[in-house]
Amino acid sequence: MRSSERSSILSNWRIPLSDLDYGPEEEEAIVRVLRSRWLSMGPEVQAFEHEFAALVGVKHAVAVANGTAALHLAYLALGLRAGDEIIQPAINFVAAANMTLAIRAVPVFADILSLDEPTIDPQELERLITPRTKAVVVMHYGGYVCRMAEIEAICRQHGLAIVEDACHAVGAQYLDGQEHPLHGRKAGNLGDVACFSFFSNKNLATGEGGMVTTNRDDIAEQLRLLRSHGMTTLTWDRHQGHASSYDVLVNGYNYRLDELRAALGRAQLRKLERNNHLRGELVAAYRRHLSDLPGWIVPFADYRGDSAYHLMVVVAPDQEARTRTVSTLKEAGIQTSLHYPCLPDFAVFKGLRGSGVEKSRLFARRAITLPLFPTMSMSQVEEICHLIGSVALS
Ligand SMILES: Cc1ncc(COP(=O)(O)O)c(C=O)c1O
Repeated sequence: MRSSERSSILSNWRIPLSDLDYGPEEEEAIVRVLRSRWLSMGPEVQAFEHEFAALVGVKHAVAVANGTAALHLAYLALGLRAGDEIIQPAINFVAAANMTLAIRAVPVFADILSLDEPTIDPQELERLITPRTKAVVVMHYGGYVCRMAEIEAICRQHGLAIVEDACHAVGAQYLDGQEHPLHGRKAGNLGDVACFSFFSNKNLATGEGGMVTTNRDDIAEQLRLLRSHGMTTLTWDRHQGHASSYDVLVNGYNYRLDELRAALGRAQLRKLERNNHLRGELVAAYRRHLSDLPGWIVPFADYRGDSAYHLMVVVAPDQEARTRTVSTLKEAGIQTSLHYPCLPDFAVFKGLRGSGVEKSRLFARRAITLPLFPTMSMSQVEEICHLIGSVALS
């Protein structure tokens, strides 16, 4: 799509934080569905699920309405319930913690490893586990997979389920560098159940949309029931004459994905490997320009896996440097963001256990998310880095 055809929302920023890679493939996908005259869950969703499961290397992929619904269903399918404690990172989007409250379970916030590696610290699990702990949420921040070998060993020892919040990490691969059984697996294939989001700023974007992946048949069965009212058949099955009646087995929801979004997802899936690679090249350029700035940190310097490069994050030397940098970039028409405020500091989670997350607090005060999208140019990266350098060295 030519930039002149873009919506006015994006044109407010000369360089936006993210941008879609949409073109004739997505337009063709939408027209194909419109002409099929079937809009709700049907053959496109089925095909998207099969293709997504193949990408991740899992047995089951269950398409849902969004990433938050994916997390909600993952918790329910694991049998988590009121009073259970779910350990999760203090630096995350709010959805995993909100869905914990939705099932009346208790979020217990764990600190990140460091400003250089802002994913959940496995040692924190040992500190926070109680007899009520039932599950651990890991979030592959920015597309960089968590320390899964250590996390898996602790969870196995204590009988805890692992939920991957893989919303940043579609296509990422875990490389442990050892003979570990998880080595070489994709994000979404590293725990009991994993959740993806296809929100418009994600590496694979459909507007709204999500996916749950698992190798466990029992979980997949629950997910499929819970996604559609707990009913034993779908409208699509009845339309095809496969079933004429149904039973309702569990108290379910309407978290279905529609055909239009599934078709968009399939078109985006075909671009994913190339686009993640392009993101990686842009991140490498950012890293070259920013790594030597005194006091600045470019996280994941020693990362060994194959990232999905969802976010480009830098950590300023202090909060004041962050503020000055963000405003300099804003004046130049460059959008930035913060991923994320420290979760236990939100009003809704006040009073919960959230002590000892000082590294997360520090990170939230100093981190800046910079523009990153596959159609971005190297000269845009250079311009941004030049501006950051001018603030850093002034
Ligand atoms: C890490 C993370 N978890 C969960 C979500 C929730 O996904 P959605 O916005 O599709 O509900 C998002 C997306 O915004 C996310 O980035």
